[in-house]
Amino acid sequence: MRILFVTSEAHPLIKTGGLADVSGSLPAALRNIGEDVRILIPGYRQVLDKLRNPRVLLKLKWLPIVGDVTIMGGEMPDTGVPVMAIVCPHLYERDGGPYLDPRGYEWLDNPLRFGSLSRVAAILSSKASPLSNWIPDIVHFNDWQGGLTPAFMRFSGAPCAKSVLGIHNLAFQGNCAEEWVEKLGLPYEAYHIHGLEYYGQLSFLKAGVFYADSITTVSPTYAREIQTPEFGFGMQGLLSDRSSHIHGILNGIDTNEWNPATDPHLPEHYDADTLQKKGLVKRALQEHLGLTVDPDAPLLGVVSRLTHQKGLDLFLECAGSLAEEGCQIAILGSGDPSMQQGFVSLAKAYPKQVSVTIGYNEAISHQIMAGADIFIMPSRFEPCGLNQMYGLRYGTPPVVRRTGGLADSVCDSNAESIADGTATGFVFDTADTWQLHVAIQRALACYRDKETWKKIQRNGMAQDVGWDHSADAYREVYKSLL
Ligand code: ADP
Ligand code: GLC
Repeated sequence: MRILFVTSEAHPLIKTGGLADVSGSLPAALRNIGEDVRILIPGYRQVLDKLRNPRVLLKLKWLPIVGDVTIMGGEMPDTGVPVMAIVCPHLYERDGGPYLDPRGYEWLDNPLRFGSLSRVAAILSSKASPLSNWIPDIVHFNDWQGGLTPAFMRFSGAPCAKSVLGIHNLAFQGNCAEEWVEKLGLPYEAYHIHGLEYYGQLSFLKAGVFYADSITTVSPTYAREIQTPEFGFGMQGLLSDRSSHIHGILNGIDTNEWNPATDPHLPEHYDADTLQKKGLVKRALQEHLGLTVDPDAPLLGVVSRLTHQKGLDLFLECAGSLAEEGCQIAILGSGDPSMQQGFVSLAKAYPKQVSVTIGYNEAISHQIMAGADIFIMPSRFEPCGLNQMYGLRYGTPPVVRRTGGLADSVCDSNAESIADGTATGFVFDTADTWQLHVAIQRALACYRDKETWKKIQRNGMAQDVGWDHSADAYREVYKSLL
C-alpha cells in the first residue's frame, strides 16, 4: 500500500513532543513490513537543513492566500524513509517553534500554516494528483494540524485516497475564527454542526473526526476514554457516534535509539544482565547535575512538558517531603511558568538533592532516563506517553497514573504481580497528591529490597515496547479501508 503520513513534526527533523517520536518511528516500522510510506511535513528551516538528498519534486500553484509552494523530496537522515517537505518560506521558515513564536505565543496565522499542510495533503492524495507516479491508497494525517485534509478531499469532488485521522492529543483542537472557512477555500455551506463548525468556530480536529474514513488513537484505553465527558474535551458525542471507526493502537518506541546498551548519550552502557553498570550512569548524572554522589539515595527522574496534563503540580506538592526523606530528584522540562518557578525554588531549597533543568535537552533526557532509579509520570490524562516506556526499557520503573497509554503499558507491582513476573512499575488511580505520594512510597519500599527491585527492573526491560505488533495493527486498519 502507498501511505502518505502527514505530520507537523518528526524526529530527528523537528520535535516538540511524542508526535515527533511516533512520526519518526512508525513510518519506518511500516516500511519494514513492506508498506510504501512517505512523510509529508512543513518545510521548517530545521527540516530543510536535515533532509537527506534534498531535491525539488514539484511545484504547486496558487494555493489560497499562500501562492506557489515547492514540494521538496528527500529522506529521513537516520531511517531513510522518504519525506516530502512543503517549501514556503513565509509560512514555515521562521525563528521560534513549529506552533509558537519566540515569545511563546501561538503564531497568529497557524490556521493558514496548517490549513496549507492539510490542503497539500489533500492534493497529493487525489487520484488526479500532480505527483502522478506516486498516488497514495491511504492518507494518514495526524492531530489537528492535518485535520482539514479529509474536508479538502471531500470538497474537491475528485476521487481520493482513504483517510485515517491519528489522534495523539484531543486537548489540542486547532479551533479558530469562522472567517478562516472561506479564507482557506472551504465551502461556507459546510460550516455547520454536521461539518466544520464546533461551538461557533472552525475546528480542524473536529473536521478530521467528522470526515475521516477511520480514526486511530494511540492506546486502547485512550480510545475508550475520549468517548466520555471527562476526557472528550467536548468531542465525546461525535466520537461516540463514530465509535465503530475508532481503533486504539498502543504506540511503540524506537528501540534502536532508546537502548541502554548502545545509547551514545550515556557514559556507560548496560543491559538486563549488567544492571550494576546503571549505577555508573547514576553516578555520572549526580556529578553532572551537582547532586550529592550517593549510590543509595533513591533518584527520582522527570522529563516532561510541565503542564496541567502531566500532573507535575501533584509531584511538586510532595517533592519537598520526599527530599526531606532523603530522595534526590532530577527534573528536565519546560512549560507552565508557575510550575517551572515552583521546581526552581525547590532546587534552591535543596541544592544537593534537587536539580531542575528548564528547557529542551536530548542528551540530558537520555541520561535521566538511564541514571534515575524511578521515573515519575502522574499524568491527569495521557493518550499514550512514551517516557514511561523509555523508563521500562532503561530499568527505571515508572510511577504512573492509571490513564490512557500509562494504564496499557505499566503493570502495578504487588505481591501477586511480583510473584508471577509481570510487575513493571507503580500505578495509582486518582489524580491527587496523596495517592501519588503513596505510590512513590511503595516504589521506595521495593527499591530498598534489592532483589525485588532487580526483578521489577528486568520485567520492564523484557517487555516488548517496539513497533512490530502495532505496525501490523495499523496495516490492518489501512487494509480494511481498501
Ligand atoms: P507528550 O508528547 O505529551 O509531551 P510523550 O511522553 O508522548 O508526551 O513524549 C514526550 C517526548 O518528548 C519524549 O520523547 C520525551 O523524552 C521528550 N521530551 C519532553 N520534554 C523534554 C525535554 N525538556 N527535553 C528533551 N526531551 C523532552
Ligand atoms: C501526544 C500525547 C502523548 C503521546 C504522543 C504520541 O503528545 O500527549 O501521550 O504519547 O502524543 O502519540
